[in-house]
Amino acid sequence: MQLLTFSDKNGVADYVATYLIERIKSFVPSSEKPFLVLGLPTGSTPIPVYERLVKAYQKNEISFKHIVTFNMDEYVGLSDTHHQSYHYFMKQYLFDFIDIPKEQINILNGMASEAEEECKQYEEKIKSYGGIDIQLGGIGENGHLAFNEPDTPFEIRTHKQRLTDDTIVVNSRFFDKKEDVPTHALTIGLKTIFEAKQVIIMATGLKKSDAVAKSIQGKVTTDCPASMMQNHHNVLFVCDEDAASKVVQK
Ligand code: GLP
Repeated sequence: MQLLTFSDKNGVADYVATYLIERIKSFVPSSEKPFLVLGLPTGSTPIPVYERLVKAYQKNEISFKHIVTFNMDEYVGLSDTHHQSYHYFMKQYLFDFIDIPKEQINILNGMASEAEEECKQYEEKIKSYGGIDIQLGGIGENGHLAFNEPDTPFEIRTHKQRLTDDTIVVNSRFFDKKEDVPTHALTIGLKTIFEAKQVIIMATGLKKSDAVAKSIQGKVTTDCPASMMQNHHNVLFVCDEDAASKVVQK
């Protein structure tokens, strides 16, 4: 597991966006591998990365015609037009401004009547593309990845997840009131994330410092879902100084 630290969130976004832009530019589609498959997060942390990707597209530096995306999660019960749905978020910050064909965008349907079937099909679709090449992620203050809350088994795949009260409180900043935050979400599983060829986790701000330190240097435990990534062969944490401030220098 590797940690890169930058002075602030702009440094984090510059690094991650530059890396992604290079990977997109250097991807050569072939009959065996027609698409570069990206796993994408929501949350406030990735917004500056998406802004940089949009700028690079507008300057004709990159195209998304050979990119397939799988979003990490979606709230149960929010339609794609709801302002706090992750469908809406992705359009607002990325998809409305780039040339990715609609059929190459994948986001779990939080309105699906059969949640289990929806999750199963999502897993199968990821597999049909040969898995995720680069999984980008943020991290929750409680160490969650996507919406895999503490105590979620490491072996779990895409599933319906009850949100912890902590997460509901933290995420209520985006809603009018706490009661408006959905209690459940559909989320890719920890195993789904673990199977990505490469995982890049971004964290900024002091509020993430405990989760980052536990994930990188703590015991590998379901108490901190992101600690599972210690066993992944290609994981990079990209943090600002605040988020990395509790990592002990060795
Ligand atoms: C939500 C998302 C996570 C994200 C987390 C952190 O709970 N499901 O994928 O990592 O928020 O969000 P932020 O980047 O706003 O701190």
